[in-house]
Amino acid sequence: MKYVISVDLGTSAVKLLLVNKHGDVVQEVSKSYPLIQEKSNYSEQNPKDWVDQTIAGLSDLIQLFHGDPEDIEGISFSGQMHGLVLLDKSYEVLRNAILWNDTRTTEECREIYARVGRERLFGIAKNPALEGFTLPKILWVKKNEPKVFDEARFFILPKDYVRFRLTGELHMEYSDAAGTLLLDVNEKKWSTELCDILDLDVSICPPLIESHAEVGTIIPDIAMKTGLSPSTRVFAGGADNACGAIGAGILEEGKTLVSVGTSGVVLTYENNGDKDFDGKVHYFNHASPNAFYSMGVTLAAGHSLTWFKDTFAKEEDFDDVLAELNTVSVGANGLLFTPYISGERTPHVDATIRGSFIGMDSSHQRKHFVRAILEGITFSLNESVQIFRENGRQIDKIISIGGGAKNEAWLQMQADIFNAEIVKLQSEQGPGMGAGMLAAVGCGWFDSLKDCAREFLKEEKVYYPIAKNVEKYQTLYQLYRQVYLATISLNKGLLEFRD
Ligand code: XUL
Repeated sequence: MKYVISVDLGTSAVKLLLVNKHGDVVQEVSKSYPLIQEKSNYSEQNPKDWVDQTIAGLSDLIQLFHGDPEDIEGISFSGQMHGLVLLDKSYEVLRNAILWNDTRTTEECREIYARVGRERLFGIAKNPALEGFTLPKILWVKKNEPKVFDEARFFILPKDYVRFRLTGELHMEYSDAAGTLLLDVNEKKWSTELCDILDLDVSICPPLIESHAEVGTIIPDIAMKTGLSPSTRVFAGGADNACGAIGAGILEEGKTLVSVGTSGVVLTYENNGDKDFDGKVHYFNHASPNAFYSMGVTLAAGHSLTWFKDTFAKEEDFDDVLAELNTVSVGANGLLFTPYISGERTPHVDATIRGSFIGMDSSHQRKHFVRAILEGITFSLNESVQIFRENGRQIDKIISIGGGAKNEAWLQMQADIFNAEIVKLQSEQGPGMGAGMLAAVGCGWFDSLKDCAREFLKEEKVYYPIAKNVEKYQTLYQLYRQVYLATISLNKGLLEFRD
């Protein structure tokens, strides 16, 4: 039997899968690394931790695998988007990576609009200037750490950096490059126009490649450290959301995905690169050749739940925390939550807003808070579903992956809030499976990602909306939507009290 490995570089851990030719996950290893948060809106990681933990994970995976490493034909990558890694002329890392959920760059976003203009920005990059994206981070370093910036020869994204360390080949692939805000998304080339306007030398942008491109093989030193064969073929891979889409079979128009990780996304396939939804949702290159996807993002989806658990139920595991979900009825006994604990992206681009519990009552117990959190996360995702529907997309069936697909009650809640059929896949591995599929197609096991999806992906169960719940949720959703507007100025007032 032949195998491929996928490396999914997440925000809290790197997850590695060993996948066989039928799409079965034969081994799985996860290695975590810390988040560095010096201030409340800062979020950084040390790129060395990513590389060390990926090497440690690969080595564990090979030890767990009792077969011949020569049978592991290929390896590919998926990773957290938008993070800025700066390299000097010797390809050494200049500072910690600034991550996708770091929101220090509000001023730089304003500067981008002022200098580039909204229309031109959307025409080229198809996306708004958001704090999380890479370009504002580059401008922040240029302004605040000029010495570091002067030494920067290239910028690179997280999983592309790890792949560089494993192969010695420096590239960025399109699906991740689209999230930098410097890519001409439709033309698939770096925008010299944007670089010129913003006084950036376009040569800091690394060479671009396709997600399915073969970049080389594992360097001998890494092969020795991990036990991998030095002839293992390495394929570029894709952004985590693009790979999540591949791993859920979102490979033609009409297919939609909801994914709950640290952030949560609703994503739908697009054939063309010349639309932009007027910036209401993101518009990126897919990791499937010549395709695109549009996507709304809830910044703190799974993160809202982990925050609650870590703060109020640290010793328990998630199953215990969620155990009573179904004993609480729709609406959490009058408790409403907005998941803005790290600010928000879709539909409110707002780094200052913070979360709320509305309607707290002395009868409320922990289980009501838990249900309210899940409902709030799902309402936020529903705002993206609503944008897609308002723009003519038919959304009757959604594939659910990630944390939201791990709990029956939450899957039913998604069906009721989205008023759509929710599909749970048999083996739900999210971005890791998508990266594995890119390697499988790259190795020539299948002619296309669609052929691979037919072999690898199977539906396990469909959850249908329950009419009486749909009706209740429609009323609650209208209340939920009012909370944002009602709490904007309150949160602005509280800003000066944040550490
Ligand atoms: C997407 C985004 C997040 C990260 C999380 O725009 O910022 O989904 O990719 O890994």
